[in-house]
Amino acid sequence: MKIKVVKDKKELGNFVSDIVCKIIKEKNEEGEKAVLGLATGTTPIPVYEELVRRYNNGDVDFFNTVTFNLDEYINLPQEDKNSYHTFMNENFIEHININKNNVHIPDGNAEDLEEEVKNYERILQDSGYQDLQILGIGHNGHIGFNEPGEFLLADTGITHLTNETIKANSRFFENINDVPKDAITMGMRTILNADKIVLMITGESKKEIAAKMLKQEGITSKYPATLLYLHPDLTLVLDEEAYNAAQEIINSEV
Ligand code: PGA
Repeated sequence: MKIKVVKDKKELGNFVSDIVCKIIKEKNEEGEKAVLGLATGTTPIPVYEELVRRYNNGDVDFFNTVTFNLDEYINLPQEDKNSYHTFMNENFIEHININKNNVHIPDGNAEDLEEEVKNYERILQDSGYQDLQILGIGHNGHIGFNEPGEFLLADTGITHLTNETIKANSRFFENINDVPKDAITMGMRTILNADKIVLMITGESKKEIAAKMLKQEGITSKYPATLLYLHPDLTLVLDEEAYNAAQEIINSEV
């Protein structure tokens, strides 16, 4: 695992955008489409801001890019302000020249959800899986909506949110009871199928999970993100706030 510490959100945006743009350029030069695995949440926003800025500057062309989002709530209308469809449209998709047919976000309102998750995994597989997967992390170590538990999903599937995640995500909803309790998420194998993975951890509030990830003690389904240690090309990017606070925890333990 590579570790990169960035000063702040701006540097995070630059660092991850460099990786994204390099992959798009290389793939396009080979006459192929880059396949990006994308994440929602507060953490990746500086990355989308920087990518949109570069697009407006003429530095990157998304026309031949294919995207797959990690997850989506079940039974939340796509046009709801808190759906991940809305998040992606507002923060990224509407601002770039991507072909909308190449944008994939799980459909949490599909009539047959079992069929939807199978289809999503199949389309990903047919696309050759992600050249790059970007990830945020939950305080409880979830990635996508792969929540801690005895078993984790291997392929894209249906999952139930833990109370901790419902509470964390309630900051966007008027009432905690409005937070959907179920979601579709890529599974752990789906994520690990990516050629390259970048996991971002920012802010002091993530210090406990940042310390856990930095210590690399082992792999456990209690912290799903630890399964990423199995990946040969994982980069953990932390901002100084998360990194320094995590180091304090680590130092206080020895
Ligand atoms: P956040 O969410 O970026 O909004 O902190 C990350 C996550 O829960 O995966």
